[in-house]
Amino acid sequence: MGRWGDGGMGEMGETRETRETLNAPIPKQQTTNNKQQTTNNKQPTTKDKPLLEVTNLKQHFTLEGNLIEQLFTQETTVIKAVDDVSFSLYPGEVLGLVGESGCGKSTLSRTILQLMRPTSGTVEFLGKDLTTQNRQELRDIRRHIQMVFQDPNACLNPLMTVGESIADPLFIHHLADTTEAKSQVMAMLERVGLTPTDDYYYRYPGELSGGQQQRVAIARALITRPSLLICDEPVSMLDAIVQTQVLQLMRDLKAEFDLTYLFITHDLWVARFFCDRIAVMNSGNIVETASTHQLFTNPKKEYTKTFLEAAALLAKQQG
Ligand SMILES: Nc1ncnc2c1ncn2[C@@H]1O[C@H](COP(=O)(O)OP(=O)(O)OP(=O)(O)O)[C@@H](O)[C@H]1O
Ligand SMILES: [Mg+2]
Repeated sequence: MGRWGDGGMGEMGETRETRETLNAPIPKQQTTNNKQQTTNNKQPTTKDKPLLEVTNLKQHFTLEGNLIEQLFTQETTVIKAVDDVSFSLYPGEVLGLVGESGCGKSTLSRTILQLMRPTSGTVEFLGKDLTTQNRQELRDIRRHIQMVFQDPNACLNPLMTVGESIADPLFIHHLADTTEAKSQVMAMLERVGLTPTDDYYYRYPGELSGGQQQRVAIARALITRPSLLICDEPVSMLDAIVQTQVLQLMRDLKAEFDLTYLFITHDLWVARFFCDRIAVMNSGNIVETASTHQLFTNPKKEYTKTFLEAAALLAKQQG
């Protein structure tokens, strides 16, 4: 079976149907920053302390060219992938980060996680500045901030069974013994819809469809009970029907696990479906942040308008 055995791109009819679902009027609970789709009735508000606060964050890459270029020109090129980004993310919120390819979304998420240290700026998680933490301190914090990538294979070892992959973070963080880990993994498999759990536990990632692999990646991310989930294009490799199923699962899990999301996507319709607030990024900067409803009905910045128009045109061409 191919790596993305869920069937690649769906039939046109399926795509249209799902686009219609994603394009449906924004549910009332999504129209303000102060509402969320949880069943625990916890209402995130900007009066809460931010769970994550990013201030003046920069990630500049210096390209030094080859030796001969360096000798003759003595010039270096600096790519300002993230350039002075500030935002706050409140408990229980789903903040979308949208922007065209290459605008710096993934670099920003990796810099937040300290997978690469920033050029400057701070990243406070629950009031603690991650940029000053050492490796051990970061390791301890990381169980509370997990990441879901576009390609689930980025976090799934092909030689480990699904059960071993999901249990792995429990052992890395010394959170469970073997027996306890197995029962937690079984419960998590059930929760992400991979049933019969006994069957999936012993399978390998390569034997699963793309949608099933992403469910495993989500289960692995949630097994340490994080409070913040950073998702970098988590559904963009999936066909339209499976996209909707995985987004629905993520929405249900948000309520159940009391999660806060930073949700990166280049797809505005996905952001509209899933996010409470949206930050629009362009060339390393956040140019506008607004509630989902406000961004779609009354965008303020020229770039946001252009981005919305381009997305609408693309949807029309696809539809
Ligand atoms: N390690 C690196 N060294 C040099 N330049 C980099 C590095 N990583 C990213 N870049 C550059 O930084 C910019 C932002 O890249 P990034 O991957 O963050 O964009 P993105 O918004 O996630 O794009 P996409 O939507 O295609 O995933 C790009 O110009 C990219 O070439
Ligand atoms: Mg990216």
